Amino acid sequence: MQRITVIGAGNVGATCANVIAHKDLAKEVVLIDIKEGIAEGKALDIWQTAAINHFNSRVTGVTNDYLKTKGSGVVVITSGVPRKPGMSRDDLIKTNAGIVKEVTEKVVKYSPDAIIIVVSNPLDVMTYAAYLASNKPSNKVFGMAGILDTGRYRSFLANALDVAPVDIHGLLLGGHGDTMVPLPRYTAVNGIPVTQLLGKDELDKIVERTKKGGGELVNLIGTSAWYAPGAAAAQMVEAIVDDQNRVFPVCALLNGEYGLKDVYLGVPVKLGKNGIEEIIQIDLDKDEKELLKSSSESVKKVMKILDDMKLF
Ligand code: LAC
Repeated sequence: MQRITVIGAGNVGATCANVIAHKDLAKEVVLIDIKEGIAEGKALDIWQTAAINHFNSRVTGVTNDYLKTKGSGVVVITSGVPRKPGMSRDDLIKTNAGIVKEVTEKVVKYSPDAIIIVVSNPLDVMTYAAYLASNKPSNKVFGMAGILDTGRYRSFLANALDVAPVDIHGLLLGGHGDTMVPLPRYTAVNGIPVTQLLGKDELDKIVERTKKGGGELVNLIGTSAWYAPGAAAAQMVEAIVDDQNRVFPVCALLNGEYGLKDVYLGVPVKLGKNGIEEIIQIDLDKDEKELLKSSSESVKKVMKILDDMKLF
């Protein structure tokens, strides 16, 4: 791919650009920020690892100059403020909604064909905001959360079982918040159902820790996480650029799938060159359906706050 842009040179954006460059996914990776010099500096720092880490993607940093992002095939939006201890992701909406709207409009102006991946919080609703601002079909505008949340889930399971994290396959649905729905019934260690390897109590604890995984890090670091969020977004970019048709939970606009409509929510999708190639519907039992429904309701409440802001 000719060009990939990452918007926001904060911790998440810079990490994402770094991982994209390492994977050599584009001729040029553009990092853009509103704060003078920050994107230029971080991009230069990343580019100076090219000879050491063996990649060839040029990494360019720019201050607010969207002309330099022109013709990007994929754009990752990380703009906005991160949360501080004591804040929920939803507390960020008032600040971040306007930022995501403005940024998306500029992205679309210079890269009308770009696939847009949103990482800003509150994730599900910021993805909805980008969708509204972009006027693009929803298979081209979606959010990163599921890979991050399953990444956390798989890391906790790998510790509990003392096995390689890549051998753990897990699925998780719902919003990127404390109502997310990890699915032990759909979790396996190279095909072995995890329910045969861990007791219910231990699994319940891991599910709980996963749901609050972002908050655990905010409390430790004093701001939100970046290594896993940045890497997770880069993995989505890779699936698109290499047309991999990988199956991940992604924050997607539902139109009747899972009995839900007009809501952006984490569901398993096939991710390839057109963005979301397909939303995959899996069977849920009564409890799982209830949990997904309540997750959707909590996302819809925040969508209502966005609607009431009358930005669109
Ligand atoms: C987290 C933030 C990025 O979950 O939402 O760490």
